[in-house]
Amino acid sequence: MKVQFLFAALLSGLFISELSSSQTPESMEVILVSKFGGTDVLELQKIPVPVPAEDEILIRVHAAAINPVDTSIRSGRATSLSGATLPYVPGFDVSGVVERKGSTSSPFNVGDEVFAMLDLRRGGGYSEYAIVKISEAALKPVSISHDEAASVPLVTLTAWQALFDTANLEPGQTILIHAGAGGVGSVAVQLAKWRGAQIIATASEYNHDFLRELGADVTVDYRTQRFEDFVNEVDVVLDPIGGDTQDRSIGLLKNGGSLVSIVGLTSTGRNPPTNVNVSSILVEARGDQLQQIADLITEDHLDPVVSYRFPLEDAQLAHEQSETRRTRGKIILNID
Ligand SMILES: NC(=O)c1ccc[n+]([C@@H]2O[C@H](COP(=O)([O-])OP(=O)(O)OC[C@H]3O[C@@H](n4cnc5c(N)ncnc54)[C@H](OP(=O)(O)O)[C@@H]3O)[C@@H](O)[C@H]2O)c1
Repeated sequence: MKVQFLFAALLSGLFISELSSSQTPESMEVILVSKFGGTDVLELQKIPVPVPAEDEILIRVHAAAINPVDTSIRSGRATSLSGATLPYVPGFDVSGVVERKGSTSSPFNVGDEVFAMLDLRRGGGYSEYAIVKISEAALKPVSISHDEAASVPLVTLTAWQALFDTANLEPGQTILIHAGAGGVGSVAVQLAKWRGAQIIATASEYNHDFLRELGADVTVDYRTQRFEDFVNEVDVVLDPIGGDTQDRSIGLLKNGGSLVSIVGLTSTGRNPPTNVNVSSILVEARGDQLQQIADLITEDHLDPVVSYRFPLEDAQLAHEQSETRRTRGKIILNID
């Protein structure tokens, strides 16, 4: 009887340790937004640590990234995207360690290093712990830090879905990438290089050496030069700018070429010439694609670009930097 009891206790202990780390605290520090507004609405608060559902894992977050969409939601300009009723915890990019899993059949184990894009309707990344759907996560490449890993998911999935899923970029094709030094642009240039495309990228002159290092063949200073003067026809355009840049880019598309916007369509974009494809996409959180991206990082085809790091409590400064729209690569909240 005693032996049976001991055996059962041992088994249940094993079960608990397989599902969770034993030291998870009851509360965690987060950045909480209780009303929409300026950067001052980003407040450091303590809230209970959530419990993962069966299709989820709880991760101890080591780093989260800032994206322009975070500032749009915070300011009240894009509430439909967050899907969150106030108060909410911002942040769609995380890298960390699995603390607890919702089911024993989870493909991830307690202690695994993972990174993920959190669904745009949920968020929750600016936090010591975050809920991640199993379908959103991938194993973090061992060759990069959590800061670098957190910089990858949202922007790289955006570039991947625009270039490969939507525009079907092929080796030898020509692509025009606007804002090539930004979060999306800097990984789009590297993905296009890996695919074997010829790349024309726009950026301020001070970013041109950086763009060439990433793989751009031709660089254009959008402030002082017209990209039409550097290229006659392109197969694909990645448009993170919109407006006049989008309209002028449509005019450069080859017969059958594709422009993919990530900022919505102008009236020309909504009514393009019949011989070209123009579309607007919204990134999807896809763990399967993120795993392919992780492999590219491991194989040295993709190098994360982090240019600013802030502690969690300085999320306000991180948003101010993002709002300059002058950031090279990504801004990270380091939560170690
Ligand atoms: N639809 C989606 O799913 C999706 C996903 C991700 C992002 N987005 C949107 O896409 C846009 C870009 O995102 P991001 O993360 O790449 O932003 P970001 O990192 O803040 O972009 C900053 C970069 O933009 C460049 N830039 C600013 N104005 C420019 C212009 N007129 N022409 C060329 N480059 C210009 C700057 O280059 P210089 O410093 O060289 O001037 C800077 O390097 C944002 O509006 C974001 O909300 C949409």
